Amino acid sequence: MNSNPPSPLKKAFTKGLLKWNAGENSRLMPWKGEKDPYRIWISEIILQQTRVEQGLGYYKRFIKTFPDIRQLAAAPDEKVFKCWEGLGYYSRCRNLLATARFIARERDGRFPDSYETILSLKGIGPYTAAAISSFAFQLPHAVVDGNVYRVLSRYFGMDTPVDSTAGKKMFNRLAEELLDPKQPGLYNQAIMDFGAVVCRPAAPLCDSCVFRKKCIAFRDGLVSKLPVKAKKTRIRERWFSYTIPLYNNSLAVRRRTGKDIWQDLYEFPMIETKKKISPEKLVKAIAEKKWVDKKSVITCGKPLFFRQQLSHQLINGMFVELHLQQRPAGEPDWQWIKKKQLEKFSFPGLINQYLAQGIALPRDRR
Ligand code: ADE
Repeated sequence: MNSNPPSPLKKAFTKGLLKWNAGENSRLMPWKGEKDPYRIWISEIILQQTRVEQGLGYYKRFIKTFPDIRQLAAAPDEKVFKCWEGLGYYSRCRNLLATARFIARERDGRFPDSYETILSLKGIGPYTAAAISSFAFQLPHAVVDGNVYRVLSRYFGMDTPVDSTAGKKMFNRLAEELLDPKQPGLYNQAIMDFGAVVCRPAAPLCDSCVFRKKCIAFRDGLVSKLPVKAKKTRIRERWFSYTIPLYNNSLAVRRRTGKDIWQDLYEFPMIETKKKISPEKLVKAIAEKKWVDKKSVITCGKPLFFRQQLSHQLINGMFVELHLQQRPAGEPDWQWIKKKQLEKFSFPGLINQYLAQGIALPRDRR
């Protein structure tokens, strides 16, 4: 079925979903039923690219550290980034701060209460604007994301690719029609929970599902085939080789800038190559860049390897410690810090894997 589904089937969906929500949905989360738009906003930004189980602790810590928008707006960048460390997708954190400061400065700390104004805020797209405006202000906007596509494509048996322009338009329109305008917040939370708990991507609970008599995909044996995607997600593989320049019990870090991944997080001096390189090649490359004089290298540590999988990239990291007998030229943006200061900086997960095994400075060895 790819045209507009019949009205009774649509009515049965909304009714069935709310019935499931009232009778069977036992999912408990601290932001459920929350009315404070600030708290809802924080939870929705955390949940944009993070699983609920992982996001829970971060949400609680974030709210405890920054109980309202003014306290978040007044916090130093580093404190906020530290609270976000490990969650990934740091542009979310940067936008969160920018928006908190904007609201504190331009709106006297009051969170906007119209869908359009909420949507105009940095870091907030249609999904998050619909979630905040329906949960906090009971405005009739439907949430639409991958979970909603999955639930709707299965129940209505729709095989139009969800990542095509036509598919997006069709599913968005359908989602708006299905929303219960009298209780949009309840309906939106219900469809999110239903997609996460029952109509899961793999191993959905079809046999006990409230929709087992109505769901077209279940009837036709198409549950595992839906939703349809037109494009495969391509994973780009990258090779980052880090040197950890160690001189006089200090080491060099730098802040990542630019539009690439991990913007604003810290890292060690790094070169990126098209494929894996040896530690010798790394030392040669950084000598050519005049970061380090080869003659000043006392010892070159054994390379350590870690990987981090991002949604569209696989990052291969090599870490080589260089003990130096004189402070290298480096680059103007290198900051020389003591080992114990490392905890003040936010690093990507890849670097935290390396740091977890401990850097041995000459003085530690004595
Ligand atoms: N994902 C995004 N928003 C959510 C919410 N409010 N509850 C559960 N999962 C979500």
